Amino acid sequence: MCGIVGYVGYQPVVDILIDGLEQLEYRGYDSSGIAVKTSDKIEVFKAEGKLCNLREVLKPNVDLFKDSTMGIGHIRWATHGAPTVLNAHPHTCNCGNIAIVHNGIIENYKELREQLEAKGCVFKSQTDTETIAHLIGQKYAEVKDLTKAVELATKELEGAYALCVMHNDHKNKIVITKRNAPLVVGIGEGEFFIASDVPAIIKHTKKAVYLGDNQVATLTPDSFELLSADGDIIQPKVEILPWEPVALSKMGYKHFMLKEIHEQPDVVRNILFGKLHTPDEPIILDEVKLTKDKLKELNRIQIVACGTSLHAAMVGKYLIEQLCEIPVDVEPSSEYIYRKTVTDSHTLVVGVSQSGETADTITAIKQSKARGSHILIITNRPDSAMARLADSLIPVNAGIEVSVAATKSYTAQLMAFYLLALYMAEIKNSVEQSLLINLKSEMMILPQKIEQILSSTENIQKCARAYANTRDFIYIARGINFPTALEGALKLKEISYINATGYCAGELKHGPIAMLDETMPVLSILMKGCVYEKLLTNSEEAKARNARMIALTNSRDEKLESLFDYILRVPDVQEIFSPVISMVPLQLLAYYISEFLGKDVDQPRNLAKSVTVE
Ligand code: F6R
Repeated sequence: MCGIVGYVGYQPVVDILIDGLEQLEYRGYDSSGIAVKTSDKIEVFKAEGKLCNLREVLKPNVDLFKDSTMGIGHIRWATHGAPTVLNAHPHTCNCGNIAIVHNGIIENYKELREQLEAKGCVFKSQTDTETIAHLIGQKYAEVKDLTKAVELATKELEGAYALCVMHNDHKNKIVITKRNAPLVVGIGEGEFFIASDVPAIIKHTKKAVYLGDNQVATLTPDSFELLSADGDIIQPKVEILPWEPVALSKMGYKHFMLKEIHEQPDVVRNILFGKLHTPDEPIILDEVKLTKDKLKELNRIQIVACGTSLHAAMVGKYLIEQLCEIPVDVEPSSEYIYRKTVTDSHTLVVGVSQSGETADTITAIKQSKARGSHILIITNRPDSAMARLADSLIPVNAGIEVSVAATKSYTAQLMAFYLLALYMAEIKNSVEQSLLINLKSEMMILPQKIEQILSSTENIQKCARAYANTRDFIYIARGINFPTALEGALKLKEISYINATGYCAGELKHGPIAMLDETMPVLSILMKGCVYEKLLTNSEEAKARNARMIALTNSRDEKLESLFDYILRVPDVQEIFSPVISMVPLQLLAYYISEFLGKDVDQPRNLAKSVTVE
C-alpha cells in the first residue's frame, strides 16, 4: 500500500505534492510527509494521521519552500513500524543528503540494516524503507552519481518497491525505479509528475509513461532518461491516459460510501449497456477472447480474489456451475499462491479486483499465466497492472470508488459474473432458451429494484439505531446468498469495528450456535428459493436460543412476524439475482450503524483501498 508522488519542473511544488497525495489517500492514511529541495537543502515535513495534519505542519513553513520546484511525497499504510512521525516517509540517509519515498516491502531489510549499522549508519525509524535511504547514501558516496547509486542499491533489495529519490547536490533531478509496485510518470511541458496512480496526475496531463519492473528513470525538468533492467538507455513508451480529470465530490451525500451505494442502479445499467440489448438476443461479450470452441472445451475455472472481490467471486461460482456446468474453484489469492495448483490449457483463471493492484491477486495471476492458463480479469481499473496481464479483460465501469469499503464495485463485479455465466451458457447451450430469456428479462429490471430499496431507507436506519450498540453480529444465509452473509458481515466490521461473522446457516448448529443468547443479533438473509424453508428452520433454531432476530427478506410469509424482531423488506426477485438485491440493504445497515457510532465511514482505521503488499 502507501502512495508516492514526485514533481520536478517550474511550478511551486508543495501544492502539487499535497494535491497528489490527497488523490492517493485511498492507499493509506496512517501518516504523510514530503521532502522539498530549497535553495540550501532538502527540507522534510511529516505528520502522523491524515493529510490534514500535514497541512497544519506546513502552514508556518511556507516561506521556507515557496520557491521550491522539486519534491517528493508519501502517504503511508504502516507495515514495518507503528504509524508515528518517526516512521513516516520521506526517509533520509545519515547526512540528510538523500531523501526517498517508498511504496512496497523490502523483505531482506533486517540483514541489510545489520550490515549498514556495522558500517556506521544510524537508524531513526523502524521501517524497512530507511534501509534503502542509507544504502543509496552508501552507494552515492562510492560512485557520486545518483542514478548509478539507485541502480546499485536496488540490486541488493529483495521484495517490492516503487521509489522516488532526490539528493541535495541536485537541484533539479529525481531518480525513480520500481519492482512489483506501480509507478507512473505524467509528462508535462518542462515538468514531470510522478505517482503511484493516475488520479494524482490526471489533472496536470494525459500523457504518461508506466515504468516497467527494474527500469530506472532520471527526471529533470527537460529530460527523461530511462534505463532498462540491463542498464541500456531505452525510449520511454508514452501512453495517452483514457481518463478524464474528475472532481471527486460527495454530490451532497454525507459520505462517499453513501453516494456510491446510491450510484448502484446506474452502475448496473452501465455494465449491461451494449452487452444485453433485449432478452431475445444473445449476450455480447467481445471482451472474452477465448474462441467459442475453446470455451466449450473448458473443463475447469479457477477464480482468485481478495476481500469483497472474493465474495463476488463466490457468487460467480454458483452462477457458472448452475448455468454452465463447469466446475469452479474460488480461492483467496493469498492462499492460492503458496500451494501447488493444478491447471492445464483447458483451465480458465479469473482474477477479480476493484483496484487491479492487489498484490496477492497479481501474484496468483502471474503464476497461472506462467502455467499457460487463459487469464480473464474483472476489474474496475482497466489501466491497472492486473489488467495489463489479462488475455481477456472485463472492465466493470463502476467509476472511481473513493470509500475504502467497497460497495458499487461489488455489485458491478456480480453483474460481470451474470454476464459471463449467461454468455458461456449460451455458447455451451447448457440452459433452456426459455430460461435464458427469462433471466435476461429479470436482469434488465434490476436497476429499478435497487432504486426501490434506495428510495425508502427509514426502516434500515431504525434497525441500525436499534442494533448499533451491540458488540457482535451474526449473518446467516444459505446457497447463493452465503457470500452475501460474508460480505454483509465484512461491511459491518470494517466500518463499525463490530465483530460480525457470516455463516452458512446449516453450519450454525455445528458450533457457532453456542454463542447465541439474548444479546446476539442474528440477521437471516431469507430470500425466496430452494433453501428458503431450510433457512427458516435455522432461524427458528436461533430464535429458540433467544437471539435477537432480524430478517432480510422478499417473502410475505406471515410466520415471519412472530419469528423476527425486525424485518427488512426487499423487492421480489428470482433467487439467482437475490445477491444483488439483498446486498444493498446490508451496505446501508453497515453505513448507518457506522454513522450512528460516529466512526470514520470513508476511511476506517487500519485499512487502505488498494492493498499492494502481500
Ligand atoms: C472491503 C474491501 C476489500 C477489498 C480487497 C480486495 O470493503 O474493499 O476487502 O475488496 O482488499 O481489493 P481489490 O478488489 O482492489 O483487489
